[in-house]
Amino acid sequence: MSEDTGRAEGCRRPRALLAVCGGIAAYKACEVLRGLQKAGCEVRVTMTEDAERFVGPVTFEALSGAPVADDLYSHPTSAIPHIELSEWADLALVVPATANVMAKIAAGLADDCLTSTILACHDSCPVLVAPGMNTRMWQNPATQVNAEVLRGRGMTIVGPGSGRLACGDVGEGKLAPVDEIVAAALCALHGTADEGDLAGVRLVVTAGPTHEAIDPVRYIANRSTGKMGYALAAAASARGAEVTLVSGPTTLPTPSGTRRVDVTSAAEMRKAALAAFEGADAAICCAAVADYTPAAPADHKLKKSREHLDSIELVETADILAELCAKKGARVVAGFAAETDDLLAHAQDKLRRKGADLIVANDVSRPESTFGADTNRVALVSDAGVEQLETMPLADVSDAVLDAVAAALRERGRL
Ligand code: CTP
Repeated sequence: MSEDTGRAEGCRRPRALLAVCGGIAAYKACEVLRGLQKAGCEVRVTMTEDAERFVGPVTFEALSGAPVADDLYSHPTSAIPHIELSEWADLALVVPATANVMAKIAAGLADDCLTSTILACHDSCPVLVAPGMNTRMWQNPATQVNAEVLRGRGMTIVGPGSGRLACGDVGEGKLAPVDEIVAAALCALHGTADEGDLAGVRLVVTAGPTHEAIDPVRYIANRSTGKMGYALAAAASARGAEVTLVSGPTTLPTPSGTRRVDVTSAAEMRKAALAAFEGADAAICCAAVADYTPAAPADHKLKKSREHLDSIELVETADILAELCAKKGARVVAGFAAETDDLLAHAQDKLRRKGADLIVANDVSRPESTFGADTNRVALVSDAGVEQLETMPLADVSDAVLDAVAAALRERGRL
């Protein structure tokens, strides 16, 4: 029998160690704890001194039914809480992960109970990190590099999402939704994350619209919401792929387990997509990239009375899909064709003209497949022919597209 659970060792409950840092989202860690318990996990908590300024340890003690490890030297039941906890846990979750604690973990610092425990988790238990912080702190290159370092060491980064932050800013940095964190934790606990049929595949997905600046206030955009690209990224990640999501401006949360690179313009998207494609096996260009951009965006707001906006000189943007296709070699590249008429003819033309392996054609004039819909009705167009699919939820459409990409990868011996 296991001493602390009283259950037979063979069927003990999964053990999650919640590491709570000092951010406003610390209260959400209570909900994560509850979600894990509801899913049958046993939960213990370690927290930083700063976290205790937001939520007291008594709350976590009451919820978890166990003492909180917040001090290396005065734990009520353990002389070495950081080592014991790291050996006890099947998974550690840092929620919310602040920029400071991410930096400490990346640097291997262990100057309190929480960071000492995470350092001791090395080789004994996987670590999931759910960042929650101000947008500029998240986007700071130092934090981005630290996130990469953590990922490179096998840690799972969940989120962050976008939205209104506690400081009033709107942007990326918001703690991922509680459900998403709990789902990622359960996925890691059940060891299914790497068992998908796309395990080992490095996939780039472009998504959303682009915004082309006219002046600091105005831009040219389109109706894309990013839903289809985000669904693809989520589905590929759930099937084990390592996904880089190059996203134009959207309000959608980052799909669990994906690396998201935010861009605004077509030029920025091109740069990010080309960089991500360097180390990739496949790309799916789902973004609605602007075809034209103002030749010389003004650096000040154009005034109606003085500088008439009755003509804007436009120049063509680079075709990202065509560029990826030109350099793909044995890699697989798929694109989308959003059309309102002559769907298949346009899709076949794009397949040939851009040199893609697959074009996913959808008729955006139909309500079930238009911008912002939760369903899509697509045809898969390739050299092998046309496969018309039924109207399906975006997750199922994503799986069908990924099946086609996986088949092409298999043909080329890349899967
Ligand atoms: N695409 C791209 N870069 C661009 C324009 C389009 O990567 N500058 C990609 C889209 O992501 C999509 C495919 O090309 O996968 C088709 O995009 P679409 O806008 O339908 O086609 P265009 O080539 O722009 O042609 P048209 O607007 O005339 O239909």
